[in-house]
Amino acid sequence: MSVERGTGPEIENLLAERRTFPPDPAFAARANATAELYEEAEADYEAFWARQARERLSWFTEPTQTLEWDLPFAKWFTGGQLNVTYNCVDRHVEAGNGDRVAYHWIGEPGETRTLTYADLQRETAKAANALLELGVRTGDRVAIYMPMIPELPIAMLACARIGAPHTVVFGGFSAEALSGRINDCGAKVLITADGGWRRGKKVGLKHHADEAMASAPSIEHSIVVNRLGDDVNMVHGRDRWWHDIVDGQSDDCPPVPVDSEHMLYLLYTSGTTAKPKGILHTSAGYLLGTAFTHWAVFDLKPDDIYWCAADIGWVTGHSYIVYGPLANGATGLLYEGAPDAPTWDRWWEIVEQHKVTILYCAPTAIRAFMKQGEEIPKAHDLSSLRVLGSVGEPINPEAWRWYRDVIGGGTTPVVDTWWQTETGQIMISPLPGVTTTKPGSATFPLPGIDADVVDGDGNSVPKGSGGYLVLKRPWPGMLRGIYGDPERYRETYWSRFEGMYFAGDGAKRDEDGYLWLLGRVDDVMNVAGHRISTTEVESALVDHQSVAEAAVVGKTDPISGQAIFAFVILKAGQEASDHLGVQLREHVAYVIGPIARPKFLMFVPDLPKTRSGKIMRRLLRDIAEGRQLGDVTTLADATVVDTIRENSGKAED
Ligand code: WT7
Repeated sequence: MSVERGTGPEIENLLAERRTFPPDPAFAARANATAELYEEAEADYEAFWARQARERLSWFTEPTQTLEWDLPFAKWFTGGQLNVTYNCVDRHVEAGNGDRVAYHWIGEPGETRTLTYADLQRETAKAANALLELGVRTGDRVAIYMPMIPELPIAMLACARIGAPHTVVFGGFSAEALSGRINDCGAKVLITADGGWRRGKKVGLKHHADEAMASAPSIEHSIVVNRLGDDVNMVHGRDRWWHDIVDGQSDDCPPVPVDSEHMLYLLYTSGTTAKPKGILHTSAGYLLGTAFTHWAVFDLKPDDIYWCAADIGWVTGHSYIVYGPLANGATGLLYEGAPDAPTWDRWWEIVEQHKVTILYCAPTAIRAFMKQGEEIPKAHDLSSLRVLGSVGEPINPEAWRWYRDVIGGGTTPVVDTWWQTETGQIMISPLPGVTTTKPGSATFPLPGIDADVVDGDGNSVPKGSGGYLVLKRPWPGMLRGIYGDPERYRETYWSRFEGMYFAGDGAKRDEDGYLWLLGRVDDVMNVAGHRISTTEVESALVDHQSVAEAAVVGKTDPISGQAIFAFVILKAGQEASDHLGVQLREHVAYVIGPIARPKFLMFVPDLPKTRSGKIMRRLLRDIAEGRQLGDVTTLADATVVDTIRENSGKAED
């Protein structure tokens, strides 16, 4: 990790956000989660999770033990046996809810498909029988590389039905990324598609899959969904069309009981080295963690229309499009396309048409909508919305306010949810019927979760101070390791602070005990001995009326150690000028303090982002330092950095 023992622990607590939003009493009166949950969980967190597991999961064999904790290796609900797909699908059908819609699917070109729980049961059983026909057995790994079409969750559930762990690789990744992941876990079958739609264009997948399979010897077969109707290369004996091998199967495929700790899936995530980590999640604890948090944080009711706008290729989609919501019998939306396809109206059209009640998305999307102007969402009836969620990065107070005011009509609670691929489930978040929120704060750990902010020596910091975010006790949805590398697991997460999970994020605890996430610790700048969060400076910039989005990095400075370099995207209709540059820098100095005034500020048309929307600060640091660019393979749009670089000479103070 990049944090050194003994460095100053205090991240400057400079940005004071004072507005608060108590829950609406009418909402609180009907809320799923109440304050008692915190008390119950604090009294005995194992007993709390044991009760949740009894009440929320259906078991073939009840567990005999709640937790075996041999730090850093946890086992939850040992002795128990269940099947994840049975919990997500079959039991709802058995309970008489087969006609309930599981997914309303919307393809980017506008076609729709509706899948009830009974449909899902049939389709997952057929797909599972196809996997069995291809020789997949319980424990064998299956790779999935697909667009956002119904066959994607069906494929995942088919795997879980027979206890074959899946690894979903986001459809935007390259052939090389795909083969690397397949080879790491030795997957036997690859489920893919001819392609999908993105911004009005066909995006082919099969040729990437072919290239990947050429260097992935463990793959014996592929199953290919015909999404685009395109003619693709099919290798005889290896590749099978989904409609040929799945559609004719029997719809009877008994769910296989697996142990609680049976591997459910691997999801690869990048770390500090080039080799992605296969984050390992198991069955019962993960399912419970996602189901409980989905119920509590989003206040899910039977008549809700729930839309998580992430891609299933990321953990947000695994936990909050597939496993959590389906375990809860939710009715959800599945949208294939981009927010601006064909126009920036698309999401709001969908919300209006389907009367979406719960929306879960990323601050990046919210800021993109802000940039387009509030007239666009305001032209639609969004009054069905009753809970708004945010995830993936710190949400700056301005975006939080805009989300609540413009999208939520000024009354809808916003839940800023902090978690990670590794945590599996939401860890820090308001409960919408309980917590008084502050814009930009993820507020408090959820019931059962022990999160803390510590200094460089692992001591809790006092209120009003910053430090490192840690988790101090195991939780059901936690990663069980890095696939094939227990040492790296211990080293990455459990070695920085003894007995604690180090999340890699900076955080502060304000005077009222609220938690504020400050970004990854390697995004924390050190200016003249003061630790300043990139996030706080960005929030201050976005707080200015003319700014749509900002990214800030530290640039090596001979006098102050680091100087602040800000990249700023203006709102539509705003003119970049030297005068505005000075104004913005003064604005930051005004909001946070002179220490945080950016020394360099550059107006840019766009920012380098990964396909999941994370700003690649590493590249911005390279640009700021005038260095050769590092690895750009995960960049969504390679032309962005070139444009910025061409202008970077002009950024000098
Ligand atoms: C990192 C994990 C969790 C699903 C999507 C991202 C950042 C996530 C928040 C939030 C501030 C957040 C953290 C974390 N992050 N949610 N609400 N506020 N930061 O999963 O790719 O594993 O990334 O995303 O830095 O460590 P991921």
